Amino acid sequence: MTTTVAFIGLGHMGGPMAANLVRAGHRVLGHDLVESALADAAAKGVERAGSAAEAAAIADVVVTMLPAGRHVLSLYGPEGLLAAARPGTLFVDCSTIDVADSRAAHAAASAAGHRSLDAPVSGGVVGAEAGTLTFMAGGEQAAFAEAEPLLSVMGKKAVYCGAAGAGQAAKICNNMILGVSMIAVSEAFVLAESLGLSDQALFDVASAASGQCWALTVNCPVPGPVPGSPANRDYRPGFAAPLMAKDLGLAANAVRAGGVDAELGLRAAELYARFAEGGGAEKDFSGIVRAIRAASATTADTEKGATP
Ligand SMILES: NC(=O)c1ccc[n+]([C@@H]2O[C@H](COP(=O)([O-])OP(=O)(O)OC[C@H]3O[C@@H](n4cnc5c(N)ncnc54)[C@H](O)[C@@H]3O)[C@@H](O)[C@H]2O)c1
Repeated sequence: MTTTVAFIGLGHMGGPMAANLVRAGHRVLGHDLVESALADAAAKGVERAGSAAEAAAIADVVVTMLPAGRHVLSLYGPEGLLAAARPGTLFVDCSTIDVADSRAAHAAASAAGHRSLDAPVSGGVVGAEAGTLTFMAGGEQAAFAEAEPLLSVMGKKAVYCGAAGAGQAAKICNNMILGVSMIAVSEAFVLAESLGLSDQALFDVASAASGQCWALTVNCPVPGPVPGSPANRDYRPGFAAPLMAKDLGLAANAVRAGGVDAELGLRAAELYARFAEGGGAEKDFSGIVRAIRAASATTADTEKGATP
């Protein structure tokens, strides 16, 4: 069945996601503030809408793929998409945003007589292009069931996580595990180096022992042991450090709001924020091993009396 989709936000992720919907036979009306994003999407069959509201007014489903919660809330807001859409339109927000913002977006959609789903993704630009994203969804189960045929075009897996905001909650909890574990793996490699243990020897042991995790065996932060990991291509992303910093910042907001004692999650947010603003701005998040190595060398030199 052909669905008319308004797709707002045609950037690195939204552009290829919208193109996959077109390829599957859906009518997609796209909007973005950036002309080049619109032009790229139009070349793949996305129809240019005059405005986001114009697209929403004739859509069965409105998908948003935007940078942050403030963009979603302001587009939903007074005189925005919710007001323009026909009653009962399904709103699917695939952006990664604050859990509180996501719940506010759901509440606004419901107050305007619409149905809504938060459905953030993992899988990155490669997954968006290949249609192999994983969606984690929150909202009414009926809304999830209705969105599923579209999610299955853009992704390979969609997990229903629970009520409004549950998809965002799953995303930031998963990425908090990932951020903390990447730092732990990186610290272990730098410690091994200082103890004269080779990267390969640590990998061979830890990957077959209880230190095993995705950060080690798939996205290994040192070159060599896992040929496909970003470390082997000068840390070209992959999953860029600024995106990890963003997700850990959202996790830290939720940690503080909930009064959760998550010392490592908060510390990981600080370390990634610093790395993303400095040497990691254009690097994969596993490049944090270099920052740890550099800081370790400075400490060791200082202890030996050298000028830092
Ligand atoms: N890039 C990734 O690898 C990745 C992976 C998982 C999740 N995400 C999440 O997906 C979302 C999008 O990421 P991205 O990498 O595509 O970002 P992006 O910056 O490439 O794309 C966002 C697009 O939204 C557009 N936009 C902003 N405000 C708008 C408005 N008012 N109306 C219309 N368009 C507007 C921007 O012009 C931009 O083209 C983010 O929330 C990000 O955290 C990204």
